[in-house]
Amino acid sequence: MKIFLDTANLEQIKEMAELGLVDGVTTNPSLIAKEGVDFIDRIKEICEIVKGPISAEVLSTETEEMVQEGIDLSKIDKDIVVKIPCTEEGLKATKSLKEKGIPVNMTLIFSPNQALLACKAGARYISPFVGRLDDIGHDGMEIAAKCMDLICEYGFETEVIAASIRNTFHVERAVSLGIDIATIPHKVMKQLVKHPLTDIGIEKFMADWESTKK
Ligand code: E4P
Repeated sequence: MKIFLDTANLEQIKEMAELGLVDGVTTNPSLIAKEGVDFIDRIKEICEIVKGPISAEVLSTETEEMVQEGIDLSKIDKDIVVKIPCTEEGLKATKSLKEKGIPVNMTLIFSPNQALLACKAGARYISPFVGRLDDIGHDGMEIAAKCMDLICEYGFETEVIAASIRNTFHVERAVSLGIDIATIPHKVMKQLVKHPLTDIGIEKFMADWESTKK
């Protein structure tokens, strides 16, 4: 499974990129707003750190404007993926950008039906929001798995990004369901590394080694 980092924070991106395990980055308007920085400048900075798909979301809601924004964003770097919400306007924009050779990550996907339409429109990636589905009593990861199934069934080239990941259990399930990609917040990435038995094991090895010197 590919790992994308779900943040617009440069320190977090640098720290995780140093691990050598980050295949891409996803951002959204909320994540950029949290940083209080210029949107375009921040996307440029992220592209300098991570060599892989970097999702940058459009702010317009009308097809024509979305397409123009997508074209402008794609000029920032060859790795830019234009993030577009799953609406009728967004589907039209996705088709148009696909025809121009610009990859789209269709975001705010909450059902397999939306996923089907996004794939048919030519989205390179689709992002089912697992955590937000869990929040309203659905099994978000099950929806992501259904998206994987329909892509396989109909032979689309789209990849599924499990988004809105909230905990390590989400990641474990994404792996066991064979989801293509998970976009993971920094906090959850840190938790993935840790296990109390690893710390206890290291302590014991060190203590045993020290005891040979007495
Ligand atoms: C990533 O593509 C999404 O925008 C992000 O995972 C949403 O996460 P949230 O539901 O925690 O805001």
